[in-house]
Amino acid sequence: MSNQGGSPVPLLAARDLVKAHGRTEALRGASVELAPGEILAVTGASGSGKSTLLHCLAGIVRPDSGAVTYAGERLDRLPERRLSELRRTEFGVIFQFGQLIPELTALDNVALPLLLAGARRSEARATAGEWLERFGVRGQEELRPGEMSGGQAQRAALARALVTGPKVVFADEPTGALDSLASEQVMAALAHTARESGTAVLLITHDAQVAAYADREVRLTDGIVASQGVTA
Ligand SMILES: Nc1ncnc2c1ncn2[C@@H]1O[C@H](COP(=O)(O)OP(=O)(O)OP(=O)(O)O)[C@@H](O)[C@H]1O
Ligand SMILES: [Mg+2]
Repeated sequence: MSNQGGSPVPLLAARDLVKAHGRTEALRGASVELAPGEILAVTGASGSGKSTLLHCLAGIVRPDSGAVTYAGERLDRLPERRLSELRRTEFGVIFQFGQLIPELTALDNVALPLLLAGARRSEARATAGEWLERFGVRGQEELRPGEMSGGQAQRAALARALVTGPKVVFADEPTGALDSLASEQVMAALAHTARESGTAVLLITHDAQVAAYADREVRLTDGIVASQGVTA
């Protein structure tokens, strides 16, 4: 399927997004498109607006102006109830900070989205265990986030974002707390899972090795998409 420009119809698109936090203009007219199943890296200096862009695209923050379209629907105009349903059923999000619920064990954190979707507890916990294993968190199922290392918690957060089989995964520095070997392993698992299931991924990263897992890279500078290119 293609539109007039010959490029695939995007699953998710932001057009001319403007978003201020108080007097700081985090986004100043950013436009970006994500095709179905595409892995897109978003890079840029600290403070360039990457997290703000992700939050707008995931329907967590409403832009001041501009449009976010998901599967042909104006996401920025949806009522809150419909937005949270979308986030629960079609999106998986890995935040840059504070990912897991501190009171729940790793296993219960990963099982939670399944329980919210109506799965039985035993089933949800079994599936959650498989996903933790896939991301290399074995033997830590019963630990709470405060008892895990930063890297282990980050892997559990990834498992939680993917466990429901979302259409889009938003990952804000998913390997930020990992050393380069662990980072490679987690990215390989994320990319493999995404390719296998046709999940699109919006991946924020500072790390060129991580960006290399993407199909394409966009670079933000001062709240604007400054350049686009195919990754190595
Ligand atoms: N909640 C907030 N309140 C006030 N200013 C904010 C808030 N969130 C972000 N900002 C500001 O908006 C700008 C863009 O922030 P954003 O978090 O989107 O950048 P980023 O590219 O993700 O940076 P980093 O790589 O450090 O995570 C920055 O100048 C930041 O200080
Ligand atoms: Mg950020």
